[in-house]
Amino acid sequence: MTQALDPLGFFSVENSVDCVNARMAQTTDPRHAQVMASLVKHLHAFATEVSLTQAEWDLAIDGLTKTGQISSDERQEFILLSDVLGLSMLVDAINNQRPAGATENTVLGPFHVADAPRRAMGDQICLDGKGESCLFEGRVLDLNGDPIEGVCIDVWSDNAEGFYDVQQPDVQPRGNNRGVFTTGADGRYSFVGIKPVPYPIPDDGPVGKLLAALGRHPYRPAHMHYLITAPGFQKLVTHTFVSGDKWLTSDAVFGVKSTLVAQYEAIDGGATLWRSPFDFVLTPED
Ligand code: BEZ
Ligand code: FE
Repeated sequence: MTQALDPLGFFSVENSVDCVNARMAQTTDPRHAQVMASLVKHLHAFATEVSLTQAEWDLAIDGLTKTGQISSDERQEFILLSDVLGLSMLVDAINNQRPAGATENTVLGPFHVADAPRRAMGDQICLDGKGESCLFEGRVLDLNGDPIEGVCIDVWSDNAEGFYDVQQPDVQPRGNNRGVFTTGADGRYSFVGIKPVPYPIPDDGPVGKLLAALGRHPYRPAHMHYLITAPGFQKLVTHTFVSGDKWLTSDAVFGVKSTLVAQYEAIDGGATLWRSPFDFVLTPED
């Protein structure tokens, strides 16, 4: 579609980007102006490229409206939208480029809680007695391979039925499959949880509808979450994934990295059926 430029320079398809961005000349924050100018450029290019129809834009506005309406302090549907579009992982990757050998980041997800129970090394985190018991253990190291003392390791996973405790406050004990641990001088950590199981991301809202319309499933491969912090080191937000999981190559939120796939070894005898060893390597600040 070609339209003549408006002789007086008013808005047209051809000059739409310049027309909008010219209004940003007064913006006082140069970074804000840069980000918004680029956003306008790419949004207009997108609408032009696909010749966006009015009906399609109305549908998108309706979806965004519902995304806002279903969001609350407990549910953040916009982050979920960003997750399934791969934007969360892209922003995470841009901002957390790590040196070779350092453990990689992945998405935090919506189920972290700030006040998980503090536990002693080796403690059990599974409180509902469901699932296949698994020993998680390893070390937290610096880039030289030396152990780091005083590392705070915050872990959480779903239960054997694929739900986090915060999703089922009336069903699961508070703090089920969660715990916060602190390493000693040897940098070692260990705790007993369950071998995580895959689960669908919340798909009863507009994001679930979008996935269904795109022929996409809502599943995440089984994983254990870790938020690892230590003075002088970059915060590590990551998971370890269960090797062999059927959803590893099609995670609904694109969170899998090959370096984060952990081994699960069967243990003979005893109540604990699995052992998953994994060492974390932290990157120094700056
Ligand atoms: C999670 O792993 O907990 C998660 C991550 C992104 C979206 C939904 C759930
Ligand atoms: Fe998760």
